[in-house]
Amino acid sequence: MKAILVEDSTHILSVGQSEKPVINKNELLVKVKAAALNRADLLQKRGLYPPPAGASSILGLEMSGVIEEIGTDVEGWKKGDRVFALLPGGGYAEYVTIPAAMAMRIPENLSFEEAAAIPEVFLTAYLNMFWLGNLQKGETVLVHAGASGVGTAAIQLAREAGANTIVTAGTAEKRELCLSLGAGVAIDYKEGPFSTKVLEATAGKGVNLILDFIGAPYWEHNIDSLATDGKLILIGTMGGAKVNEVNLSKLLFKRIQVIGTALRSQSVDRKVQLTKDFSDFALEKFATGRLEPIIDSVWDWEHVNEAHKHMEQNKNAGKIVLRVN
Ligand SMILES: NC(=O)c1ccc[n+]([C@@H]2O[C@H](COP(=O)([O-])OP(=O)(O)OC[C@H]3O[C@@H](n4cnc5c(N)ncnc54)[C@H](OP(=O)(O)O)[C@@H]3O)[C@@H](O)[C@H]2O)c1
Repeated sequence: MKAILVEDSTHILSVGQSEKPVINKNELLVKVKAAALNRADLLQKRGLYPPPAGASSILGLEMSGVIEEIGTDVEGWKKGDRVFALLPGGGYAEYVTIPAAMAMRIPENLSFEEAAAIPEVFLTAYLNMFWLGNLQKGETVLVHAGASGVGTAAIQLAREAGANTIVTAGTAEKRELCLSLGAGVAIDYKEGPFSTKVLEATAGKGVNLILDFIGAPYWEHNIDSLATDGKLILIGTMGGAKVNEVNLSKLLFKRIQVIGTALRSQSVDRKVQLTKDFSDFALEKFATGRLEPIIDSVWDWEHVNEAHKHMEQNKNAGKIVLRVN
């Protein structure tokens, strides 16, 4: 089959040949129509984020497509059904195998490109805000990089759960997008410490939950932005991973919980349960248009290097999608 391969010394990507995967009795073989980019792909092609044991070494954490073969123990699916799913790897390819329990049916109103833009960012936002963050109606979540793929998903899911969202984002257009999706306040983090604005917006109380992808440079201001009993969920370290000085007494004083998490390395059972919970909460909302994947751009997969560059330069607001030809 065709797949995107990485040239190890230059990290340049190109369409080449790879072995077509084979299903087991609980799996589906899917002919991929679209895949979407993630920051993890940028790291993996440079050898900085190896795939978990047993996963394909091909890039790609999510895809949409059409069922082509069905495992002997699988029920409820037929050839030709349109599906989308999270993957541990392998999405930048003509074919993938997925556990049938992780397949989600594409709502009729969504294209393959739209469906491929959903799994990684929406499941990440769902896992972190609801399973780990226990975000409740009326509470407030601070989402950094609000116009990112995960950010745009988080804003919409928080809105649907009746929670308030404050975001940070680097350009006026990105902040506008966040507000249009339901964020109540959008902060320009380049204008000064975001914690001052967060405390102003919450009458000095702070937020109940923070989704942070930036890491070290935001540590101090994150702690200052949290309310008593607040939770800081660390999902990425785009700004750096090492904090030089940590004042632990602030954590005790405010009874703060700090949680580090990664979706990719979770067990299949946990991902199946997460997919099921998310589907129950969200698929009907996608079908009626209440939730929408936010797509920055769609590229034919021959242009995968340009698509990666677009993400590397932080130019995207929402997801970058590859059309698999
Ligand atoms: N742990 C997990 O399970 C998991 C799962 C999925 C994603 N992630 C992580 O979540 C993060 C977001 O992923 P994504 O795909 O949603 O990203 P994305 O759509 O590519 O957006 C990332 C945005 O972050 C902002 N940014 C980048 N570097 C920054 C810095 N040093 N300081 C402040 N802002 C910065 C930029 O927006 P501005 O212009 O607003 O600065 C950039 O456009 C990544 O770190 C990714 O690895 C983690």
